[in-house]
This record gives sequence, C-alpha cells and structure tokens, in this order.
Amino acid sequence: MATGITEEIDVLDRILTLELARVTERAAVSAARLRGRGDEKAADQAAVDAMRRELNQLPIEGTVVIGEGERDEAPMLYIGEKVGTKAGPKVDIALDPLEGTTLCAKNMPNSIAVIALAPEGDLLNAPDSYMAKIAIGPGYPAGTINLDDPIAVNLDRVAKAKGVPVGELTVCVLDRPRHAKLIDEIRAAGASIYLIGDGDVAGIIHTTNPDETGIDLYVGTGGAPEGVLAAAALRCIGGQMEGRLVITREEQVERAHRMGIEDIHRKFTMEEMAGGDVIFAATGVTDGNFLRGVKMGRNHISTHTVVMRSSTGTVRFIEAQHHQLEKFHLD
Ligand code: FBP
Repeated sequence: MATGITEEIDVLDRILTLELARVTERAAVSAARLRGRGDEKAADQAAVDAMRRELNQLPIEGTVVIGEGERDEAPMLYIGEKVGTKAGPKVDIALDPLEGTTLCAKNMPNSIAVIALAPEGDLLNAPDSYMAKIAIGPGYPAGTINLDDPIAVNLDRVAKAKGVPVGELTVCVLDRPRHAKLIDEIRAAGASIYLIGDGDVAGIIHTTNPDETGIDLYVGTGGAPEGVLAAAALRCIGGQMEGRLVITREEQVERAHRMGIEDIHRKFTMEEMAGGDVIFAATGVTDGNFLRGVKMGRNHISTHTVVMRSSTGTVRFIEAQHHQLEKFHLD
C-alpha cells in the first residue's frame, strides 16, 4: 500500500501531467504567431521565451538536460539551467520549444512544441550530435526491430509480426542526401517511403497510430536530442525504439564524455534514453497528422495538445480554447 509521501508525490505527478500542457500550449501559440514568416530564429525565440516563463511557474526543482544548447551557446533553456519554483520534486527535463523550426517558418505540417519530464537521472544526456534511430509503434513482440540488422531484415520482421507483406509497409525517413542508400534499400525491399522535410519527433510518434498516419516504421539519422524526446513519447504510448549516437567530431566525443556517456558507439534502448516515470506533452504549432495546429480566432485561440505518462499509459488529447488573450501577449 502507498505511504502518505508516495501518495503526495503521485498527486503532484498527476497535477504536473496536466500542468505540462500549459507549458507546450504557450510555446506553441507564441511560435504560431510567427508561422510562415520565413524567420526560424524569431519563431524559435518566441517559443523559448514562452516555454521558459511557464516552466518557471511549475512546482518542480527542474534541470534542463536536453535544451537549446550548451550554456555558452544558448542564453535560455540551456543544458544545466534550473527551472521551476523549487517547491516540488527534482526532475530532469528534455525540451524543444519549437521542433521543426523550418516547418513553422514555411507554415508546413508537423511542427510542435514538445517537452518530457522524468525523475532526476532518468533521461539520457545526449550531446547535440546526430543519432541513428529505428522505431515502431505498440503491439509488436519485443525485439521486432534491431538497429544493427539491415533494413530489409527489420522490414521482414515487422511485416511478419503485422501479418502483411513488406509491400504494405510504409517507412518514414527524413529527406536528406545522407539517406540515399537507405531509401534505395527500403524501396528494393518493396516498402513504401514517407519522406519528411523535418521533424522526426513527430515522424516517430506517427508510427504509434499507423491506421491514422499510414506510417509503420521510422528509420534514419536525425538529432540526438530529438531522439530522447521521441523515446520519452514512445515510453508513454508504447512502441519500440533504438538509437546510436553518430559522432563525427572530436569536440562531440568530449561533450558526450562530459555528459556521462563513456562508450559513444553503444546502442541505446528506449528505456536507456528515457527511463523512470516519464511525463510527455506536445502541442501542435502547424497542422499535423497527429496534432492540429494553433488556430487564431477572433475571440479565442484554440490549441491541440497530447499529454501522457509512462507509469499509467494514459494518453490524453486536450483541445483548449483560450479566451484570456492577454496571457498570450497578444496585446
Ligand atoms: P529543428 O527544429 O532544430 O530545426 O530540428 C528539425 C529536425 O528536422 C529534427 O526533427 C531532426 O532530428 C533534425 O532536424 C535533423 O537534422 P538535419 O536537418 O541536420 O538533418
């Protein structure tokens, strides 16, 4: 039976789960005001300012472990920055106030404001390098995917587990020259490809609902910080993911070591990237396959957010209408 203290912590966690929605909602609205302006930096800065303001009102003793960059590169939400009122649990935070800055600047689908919280020490402190990733949604036997196997072998296992021919699978891949060989191999195996211009956190989340998104599998190399955020999301919704850092420069090796990663070549499981009781929230900035974007109405602003928690597996979609427009600094 739970003791008084664990009950108190649990209530706080439950409140926090909903409070997190406010954090991503505010960041998404601030970024959305700058959709389609061709100015990635301004949209990102607006989202950062709003997210930081909201985070500092949460009853947590938070440390940013995946943020806007190292302290000397990022004035706000830098790695190591302390956030929250300090009247609450010690948590580590992974965040990307505007994931898909280019998508937002071009007003293209699937840019989101995103955050994940876990008990201190439970999120991989990934350096700002690339990461090779493979992911599928829930419902597959453990070990269905393996980053070390050729893509054709992975596709074969996914198809068998799903009970369909490989030709009926769709794989999400970032549209980058570095993926040319991978794309050829996927097509040679007979699967279809869903190319995305940016935003692989959303790309990975899309594997969790293939009936809606049409995407069964994500594969390819994207940002390592985004890998940790996607792992946090899959920990909550269910699914499988593996990642391996792609480190090309000596300073990245040093950075990885500084962040506590001794073996830079090792493969990380989803649980190693995001362990413990993880809470995740994301709000759509532009319309997407999973979340609708912010709508600016005459009298209110609408937002669409998902909040979820790994310990319960609850996935909540929150559609909010915000009437106090001054809170969004729209004056
Ligand atoms: P930003 O929001 O920082 O622009 O990142 C967008 C993104 O597409 C990520 O989703 C992805 O992991 C990464 O960039 C890929 O990096 P690159 O554009 O260098 O291939």
